[in-house]
Amino acid sequence: MNTNLEALFTDNNLSTQRKLISDICKTSPMFDCVLHKVKNRHLVDGKGHWLADFATQDYLGFDFEPRVIQAAVDATKEYGTVVAWCRLVATVDLFNRAEEEIANLIGTEAASIFASTTLLNHGVIPALLGKDGILFLDKSGHATMYEAGKIARDSGSKLVSFPTEDYDELEKLLIEHKEIPKKLIAVDGVNSMTGDYTNLPALDKLAKKYNALVYVDDAHGFGVVGERPDSDNPYGHKGNGLINYFGLDFENMVYIGCFSKAYGSFGSFIACSKRLRNFLISQATPHDLGGAGPASAMAALLEGIKINKERGDNIRKRIHELTQRALKGLTELGYDTYNKTLFPIISVHLEKGDLMIEASKILYENHILLTLAPYPMVKRGNEAFRITVTSTNTEEEIDQLIKAFSECKKLLGMS
Ligand SMILES: Cc1ncc(COP(=O)(O)O)c(C=O)c1O
Repeated sequence: MNTNLEALFTDNNLSTQRKLISDICKTSPMFDCVLHKVKNRHLVDGKGHWLADFATQDYLGFDFEPRVIQAAVDATKEYGTVVAWCRLVATVDLFNRAEEEIANLIGTEAASIFASTTLLNHGVIPALLGKDGILFLDKSGHATMYEAGKIARDSGSKLVSFPTEDYDELEKLLIEHKEIPKKLIAVDGVNSMTGDYTNLPALDKLAKKYNALVYVDDAHGFGVVGERPDSDNPYGHKGNGLINYFGLDFENMVYIGCFSKAYGSFGSFIACSKRLRNFLISQATPHDLGGAGPASAMAALLEGIKINKERGDNIRKRIHELTQRALKGLTELGYDTYNKTLFPIISVHLEKGDLMIEASKILYENHILLTLAPYPMVKRGNEAFRITVTSTNTEEEIDQLIKAFSECKKLLGMS
């Protein structure tokens, strides 16, 4: 590409906000990090430096589970490396079997599987809204739902947003737009930064009062939280998601989950009625214009669902124990974490956001890989180090994490 064009389409396009992220990529080892070994989650970078993984979100640890790997290998031999058709044209039976299993697990009539949650949101939200709907979007909802709202707005639908957990404000908006029959309220289930659980019971009441549909993107919660939480199983049972965690019905709700986090596979689903599922086959663009994803991902998922039935609740107990250990250590060091739920997402708040790059170097030297959340990924003042705990982390790794954070205290002015 000639350098003029290159500058025009790259540097000239950097938004001031995104430029900050691009600068971090150049200066912190923790962004755009290249790993040379990941086997069994023992990470090693190009310099031979090992890292404990607190950035992955494979909560149930299925990504290196031998049975899951074998299932993916067998399916590749049987079905090839890719499913060659878009979903509208043809599919292989593994996708339909996976949809049935997911619908059974969540407790809906049907489910529709997409290649990723990003694609699902971009395809399903505009399909649901059509030309004359309205989307009420939680201000801290995932960016892909906002993008989906903008696609729908282009076809004539409206897009409004409400402050997180401000249900009075949401009700005012629902009243203001009551003449629009098709009302869709979109929220994250488990918040991807804080691990907070969205108050679905409050939303369910509002949705029933104003005849709206709630769209719950529970990409993080699926596989971890589930029905009938109690003191022995604080995340609940079965990992069948936040709607079941609260014991709600699906009259006014659709549920979205993702396989690339808890299930160590690839893809996402919407759990819904049969009629909606069949509608989406021809109306959601990723189904008629895009590829479905590899069959091996569905085989891995189906094996994961079997393991979840056999020992999922024990795996979740283990995640809970490890999360408690990490939270205790970080709090004792004096760090402020956003975690109120004990969900395995811990965002360590950085009072001085401008120290993020220097602090990330110390953490990295101390063998920790985690997710940086600088502005504009989060609001200014909310900059954080995001730690995700999975069942394959060990007690020793948690202790290493605490040690690494203790090494940062001086830089952060905490000791
Ligand atoms: C709430 C939420 N929705 C959507 C996504 C995107 O998921 P995917 O990687 O499947 O596109 C994420 C990813 O982190 C997420 O947290």
